[in-house]
Amino acid sequence: SLPMSLLIIAAYLLGSLSFAVIVSKTMGLADPRTYGSNNPGATNVLRSGNKKAAALTLLGDALKGWVAVFAAQSIAPLIGLGEAGSPSYTLAIAAVMIAVTIGHMWPIFFKFKGGKGVATAAGILLALNLWLGLATLAIWVFVAKVLKISSLSALIAAAATPLLTALLLPNQSIYLGAVTVIAVLLIQRHKQNIIGLMKGKESKIGDKRQP
Ligand code: G3P
Repeated sequence: SLPMSLLIIAAYLLGSLSFAVIVSKTMGLADPRTYGSNNPGATNVLRSGNKKAAALTLLGDALKGWVAVFAAQSIAPLIGLGEAGSPSYTLAIAAVMIAVTIGHMWPIFFKFKGGKGVATAAGILLALNLWLGLATLAIWVFVAKVLKISSLSALIAAAATPLLTALLLPNQSIYLGAVTVIAVLLIQRHKQNIIGLMKGKESKIGDKRQP
């Protein structure tokens, strides 16, 4: 339907705002696509040594995921997509979750070269269900504290999200499907990291050397 298409397009455009690039440019720092892993994401911005820029990137990318889903939840009933729980509402929210992720990974404003989706997925999950978001974040933080590798923390947390969704949102197969699609996309975006992990070459969080 037209309302659903408009929500999806808006979510994709919002997702396309690469805060790693925007924050770095605004603060007069090097483009994160030119150093480290070349990934426009908070982890790589941290490799520049600028913690504030990394924190702002994390916040911006997470917030856009959260805003996309929260705004869709608020707007959907107003534009004829039904109330929370109705099939059209659920489908619209699930589509927006995937659209904002795709925007982040393949941004229209940045030659379709985007990030890996970790911060954005966190924002999406927090908006979908606070406990799902917090549980996923807890896994990321725990693995990051122990192993100090950003990519591995993200891969483990992402792999856990379908199970967490099945537990915390039982009988909501549309949301389970959307979360699974996002997890698969996120893991697929970490292909170079998986190769680095297998070679033992992934850098530690905050390490300024090249990964
Ligand atoms: O935020 C993405 C993270 O999981 C990996 O980033 O720069 O180490 O490839 P990076």
